[in-house]
This record gives sequence, structure tokens and C-alpha cells, in this order.
Amino acid sequence: MLGCKLSWTIKRTRFAYCPFSEGPRCCIGQQLAMMEAKTILARLVQVFKFKLVKGQSQDVLEQTTLKPKGKCQVYIMQI
Ligand code: HEM
Repeated sequence: MLGCKLSWTIKRTRFAYCPFSEGPRCCIGQQLAMMEAKTILARLVQVFKFKLVKGQSQDVLEQTTLKPKGKCQVYIMQI
């Protein structure tokens, strides 16, 4: 049985987000991808300041992956 249950089949918990899948064929690059993502994110917040344009929703659209519901416009300024 999958360790990850889809959010539309059960009441969603904060552990339900599962982008690398689970089980014997799950992503073997998960640790590398997470390390890369954190490294890139850390560098971006060192160099840029992000500010959400007023009136933007912060709602999340749950599909295969998570993405913003509607537009997500931000100002990006170099620090
Ligand atoms: C954000 C980055 C990544 C995401 C979201 C992601 C997601 C996934 C998903 C959903 C699967 C399918 C698992 C399944 O069939 O149940 C998969 C498989 C796989 N991923 Fe990734 N992956 C990422 C990065 C990487 C990286 C960096 C590598 C290698 C360096 C990698 C190598 C693989 C391989 C080889 C498989 C096939 C595993 C198998 O079929 O046994 N992935 N990945």
C-alpha cells in the first residue's frame, strides 16, 4: 500500500503532499532534488527580495503537484 494517500480520497493532512511518490518505484533523486531546491532557494533569498503584488490570492491548487490557484504575481527586487 502506498505510504502517501491522495488528498481527495482522505481528509488532507500536512503530510499528504508527496511529490516524489512512495513505494519501490519512488524517485531515487529525492534527496538530491531537495538539497538542490534548498540551496537554490537559500541563494535566491540572499540576493532578491520578493513582494506579492496586492490583491493576490495565496490559495493553493492541488493537482499532481501543488501550484498557486490563479495568478501569482510578485515584485522581485535585488537586495
Ligand atoms: C523536484 C525534483 C523531482 C521530482 C518532483 C521527482 C519526482 C519523481 C516521481 C513522481 C517519480 C515517479 C515515482 C513513481 O513512479 O512512483 C520519479 C521517478 C524517478 N526519479 Fe525523480 N523527481 C525529481 C528529481 C529527480 C532527480 C534529481 C533525479 C536523479 C538525479 C531523479 C531520478 C528519478 C528516477 C531514476 C526515477 C525512476 C525510479 C524508478 O522507476 O524506479 N528524479 N521522480
